[in-house]
Amino acid sequence: MSSSRPRISKAVIPAAGLGTRFLPATKATPKEMLPVVDKPAIQYVVEEAVTAGLSDVLMVTGRNKRPLEDHFDRNYELEEVLRDKGDATKLTRVQESSDLATMHYVRQGDPKGLGHAILCAAPHVGDQPFAVLLGDDLIDPRDPLLARMMAVQEQHGGSVVALMEVEPESIHLYGCAAAAATDEDDVVRVSGLVEKPSAADAPSNLAIIGRYVLDPAVFEVLRKTEPGRGGEIQITDALQTLANEPAIGGPVHGVVFRGRRYDTGDRADYLRAIVRLACEREDLGPDFRAWLRGYVAEEMGG
Ligand code: UTP
Repeated sequence: MSSSRPRISKAVIPAAGLGTRFLPATKATPKEMLPVVDKPAIQYVVEEAVTAGLSDVLMVTGRNKRPLEDHFDRNYELEEVLRDKGDATKLTRVQESSDLATMHYVRQGDPKGLGHAILCAAPHVGDQPFAVLLGDDLIDPRDPLLARMMAVQEQHGGSVVALMEVEPESIHLYGCAAAAATDEDDVVRVSGLVEKPSAADAPSNLAIIGRYVLDPAVFEVLRKTEPGRGGEIQITDALQTLANEPAIGGPVHGVVFRGRRYDTGDRADYLRAIVRLACEREDLGPDFRAWLRGYVAEEMGG
C-alpha cells in the first residue's frame, strides 16, 4: 500500500433523482426517505460512509428534497418532548441521525444525470480522491464494500467501481464493464464501460452498482462529457474516458461484490430489503419470522 497517495476523506451522496419508479409515493417525498424497517433508506447509506471512515458527507439534493436535510439536522422540539417524557430510547433514536456525520448539501438545479450530480460536488471535494454512494442503493451493513474499494484505490491509484455479477437478461438495467482478471479474486482491471447495453451487446455480466471511489480528474472529464443515453450526463461515459486514457487520472479497477445489495428505488427490491432486514433484527425478527413462516406456508398450501 502506498503512503504517498492522498487519503480519501469525503463521501458524496447523489440524491437528486426524481424517483419516478416509486410514484406516487415519491411525488412529495424523496425516495431516499422511504423507511426500510424504521430508518429511512438514506440513513443506512450515511452510516455506511461513516463506518468506512468518511464522516465528511456531501449530499447532492434538489427540489422536494428538504426532508433529507431535516432528517440529519436536530429536531429540538421533538427532543424536548421525549426528554420531558423520560423516553431515553426514543430520544437516542432521534439524535442518532443528527450526530452521525458532518453533513454538507449542494443543490443540483436540474436533474441532468448522475454524472452532472457528481460534478456539482467538485468545489467541495477539491483535489483528492473521494467516494460516491448512491442514495438509493443499500449495501447490507454486514457485507462491507466501500472499505475494500478504498483499499484497492490506495493500492492502485485511479478510480474504482463496484461490480456485481447479474443474469444476462438484467444487464440492460445497469452500466456494464469490460474487465480483465487480476491477481486478486475480487479485483478486475476495467478496460471499457457501456451504459445499459442489451444482453447481446454487453461485454460481460458485470454490472456497475452504486459505489465508486473516484480520482478528482473525473471532474474535468465530466465537464467535457456530452449528454449520453436518456439525454443525461452519465458517470459511465466519463469512466469510459478514464479507462481508455489512464494518463488522465490513473487506471480504473473494479471490486466484484458478492454480498447483499438492494436497489431501494425499485419496488420489488425495496420490499426484499425490508423483509430481510426485519427478519434479522433482534427486536422485531423473532415475531416477524414466525409470522412470515406461517404466511409462506399458507401461500404454498393455497
Ligand atoms: P436513478 O437512475 O435511480 O434515477 O438514479 P432516479 O431519477 O433517482 O429514479 P427513477 O429511475 O426515476 O425511479 C441513480 C442515482 O443518481 C441520482 C439519484 O438520486 C440516484 O441516487 N441522480 C440521478 C441524481 O442525483 N441526479 C440526477 O440527475 C440523476
